[in-house]
Amino acid sequence: MHYFRYVGNKFYCENVSVESLVKKYGSPLYIYSQRTLTEHFQKLDQALAPVDHLICFALKSNSNQAVLRTLADLGGGFDIVSSGELQRAIAAGADPRKCVFAGVGKTESEIEFALKKGVYSFNVESEPELQRINRIAGRLKKIAPIAVRVNPNVDAHTHAKITTGTYDNKFGIAIENIEGVYARASKLKNIKLRGLQMHIGSQLTSVEPFEQAVKKVSPLVERLKKKHGLEFFSIGGGLGIVYDPALESSNPEWWRTTKGKKILTPTLYATRLVPLLKPLGLRILMEPGRFISGNAGILVTRIEYVKRTGKKNFLIVDAAMNDLIRPAFYDAYHEIVPLTRKNGQLISSDVVGPICESGDFFAKDRPLPKLGEGDHLALLSAGAYGFVMASNYNTRSMAAEVLVNGNKSALVRERQPVEEIWAGETVAPWQK
Ligand code: LLP
Repeated sequence: MHYFRYVGNKFYCENVSVESLVKKYGSPLYIYSQRTLTEHFQKLDQALAPVDHLICFALKSNSNQAVLRTLADLGGGFDIVSSGELQRAIAAGADPRKCVFAGVGKTESEIEFALKKGVYSFNVESEPELQRINRIAGRLKKIAPIAVRVNPNVDAHTHAKITTGTYDNKFGIAIENIEGVYARASKLKNIKLRGLQMHIGSQLTSVEPFEQAVKKVSPLVERLKKKHGLEFFSIGGGLGIVYDPALESSNPEWWRTTKGKKILTPTLYATRLVPLLKPLGLRILMEPGRFISGNAGILVTRIEYVKRTGKKNFLIVDAAMNDLIRPAFYDAYHEIVPLTRKNGQLISSDVVGPICESGDFFAKDRPLPKLGEGDHLALLSAGAYGFVMASNYNTRSMAAEVLVNGNKSALVRERQPVEEIWAGETVAPWQK
């Protein structure tokens, strides 16, 4: 569900024509729909209403200030993975007491910074990390609230690069060892055992792995609560979205929308999980990223050349893998639509960027209408893990970002001036 659609033959974000935005701000251009962000957050919030809960948006999926402000204004918390993300969140108006700090490699200075800011919990990934947090908290004369990340060893049936809940992954502590870790942690003077956390993977399109993991971990949560007085249980993020509207599945968890798209809905997620979570009598934390931001953003790009070889029809566009790496990195599918709807025969086309790598593509053999130089395309579902994974590869500037709300639009990140890319560089003294 999102607010990007055709009105007549023009593509719109909410009530604003995307073409008018490209005319004003140029391309490549990321565009976010505030209404979509808001409704996704509210859907989860309502679905979890039967339990005391806090939704901590995973900043790693989209950390633009305007996106963060939207969610902070809705009362959301944040899942952060670096002190940089914590600073960003605070700059956008987040309350650090609603932030949880995740990640396997927290440095001393990051821990110190987060302790001083007073985060709600450190989600701890190893015993050496626990020792380190205790030591730093002692030095600062503080008590560090923590939750250990349990690895429930459940297969999430998602892409290998984004599965996290099995023993092949670097994440969390094996479920069998958790009670021992809490027993030892309870003896650490500057640690407060506040919760237990898990996250089994990303882009999960079925409720079963979540259900399996919650069922497996719940008895442990109950024992830990009794023994150590935990306050919360975090069930992580991972709720998937629809990328491919043509995807067919007989899976009963899929929910068909009017456009024929199917998604695992928050309602179904909650219907199956809330009955398992409610009896625990704990505050439930959730860390969704993609579900909130994924379909709330698009990347718009201009066709620079149409190159026909004997074999292929290449649409060479001005965005590249440095702007959106998901197709190159995960073979990810993103729906692609022209900003002006065209009728007529579809041509099998490869949409590729200008970077000198064969991996620099957005789609292969995609049926698209006949398009030419100067036409624009929108790559949908680019709001999560899009801009945040961008790089300056090939000395290409970071794209601009725009937020739309109803019939209003605003530039929320300017296009990066190219000189900024090498601004911190210098020649060595002997080269002067
Ligand atoms: N919590 C933890 C501990 C995580 O590691 C993640 C994502 C999330 C929450 C949020 O997951 P989400 O709700 O967004 O699925 N770059 C990849 C996705 C990497 C996900 C990493 N962890 C992609 O483009 O698909």
